[in-house]
Amino acid sequence: MGDKTLIKELNKILTLEHGHLGMYKDYSDFKEKEIRRTFRRFMEIEIEHINKLQNVIRNLGAKPSLIMETGDILGKMLGITLNLRGTKNLLETYSKIEKKSHQGYTRFINQLEQEGKNREQFISEFLASNMLEAKLMHLWLEDELQKNRY
Ligand SMILES: [Fe+2]
Repeated sequence: MGDKTLIKELNKILTLEHGHLGMYKDYSDFKEKEIRRTFRRFMEIEIEHINKLQNVIRNLGAKPSLIMETGDILGKMLGITLNLRGTKNLLETYSKIEKKSHQGYTRFINQLEQEGKNREQFISEFLASNMLEAKLMHLWLEDELQKNRY
């Protein structure tokens, strides 16, 4: 993958990760203790995702930059309507977003791996944990919805 394409893709993912951070950063506003505790950790995980991407971009000699600075980043980039009214809708929306995140990482990582170059191999290994954690968050959200508490 050419430098320009690679950096552009990484900045796109970085922008999405900032959107993810926005989902969890107000964890303390939730009245449900389980959600407060879980979203607090999810927030920390999203910060780790952002840091990893910024590290990769910087190590490629580029500057991390968001492709969209404000507004409904996730809605616009994922082409979905975000229904956040009420805890159930919110959990469903977040679950959908984490599922998309996992799918996006899977696609990107497979693409990098197919190139078979050392640099691309290294980046795919480095970002595989972000992919896994998107899956784990998706599964937690699905499990929480199964409980029918909300
Ligand atoms: Fe993330």
